[in-house]
Amino acid sequence: MDVCVSRQEGINMGFNVAIDGPAGAGKSTIAKLAAKKLNLIYVDTGAMYRAMALFMLREGVNPQDTEAVERKCREVDITIGYEPGENESREQVVYLNGENVNAYLRTEAVGNMASVVSAQPAVRRKLVELQQRLAEDKDCIMDGRDIGTCVLPGAQVKVYLTADSRVRAKRRFDELFRKGQTCDLDRVQADIEERDYRDMHREASPLTQAEDAVVLDTSEMTIEEAAAELMRLCRERRN
Ligand code: DC
Repeated sequence: MDVCVSRQEGINMGFNVAIDGPAGAGKSTIAKLAAKKLNLIYVDTGAMYRAMALFMLREGVNPQDTEAVERKCREVDITIGYEPGENESREQVVYLNGENVNAYLRTEAVGNMASVVSAQPAVRRKLVELQQRLAEDKDCIMDGRDIGTCVLPGAQVKVYLTADSRVRAKRRFDELFRKGQTCDLDRVQADIEERDYRDMHREASPLTQAEDAVVLDTSEMTIEEAAAELMRLCRERRN
């Protein structure tokens, strides 16, 4: 069965903004900024794949074992909610079988597992359905890898956000440095490129640029400049 089952006709779609692109391009930071200013709900789909990865890690499931992953997918319940965050923002919270797991999602181990387990069709079917339900009737900005091509093909705004892999590695390196962690820049870049390759070459809805997406290369842009461009596109298409 196709993992990108399109939504039934007759469903009332809100104003939907789809943002796709490789790891570290700034998708979530830019989408969050724009969502707050435009009063849209921000949906981080990577966090859902990370929650699924955490579940598989905790259960000791081999992510390449399709049957085991399918079986475990039937046991797991992933939902999202919103709680008050910093600066009057609303923070997305991911619940894994009822537990708030946000604090465990941002590790390298979970990120790498997410990149592998997200290639499994059973995982994608489950999460794409949840994402499509979230966007029904709501005005939202959703970011991920397959939003414009598969989850919300009818989105009014589609952006493919990218940046040079060295620039993305440097951003990640600086973020880790600020957290007091030292690492090797070349290693970070190699990890990013490996993850890009996996995300772009898997069989089930790989990361590709939607034909009708606007490409935004943030290599030489600040966060504010990229968010301003995204907001300009949203305002233009919303009217
Ligand atoms: O955006 P992120 O780094 O939090 O995503 C973690 C992994 O989840 C990423 O390597 C690919 C996968 N993912 C996906 O396959 N489809 C999405 N819509 C979002 C993320």
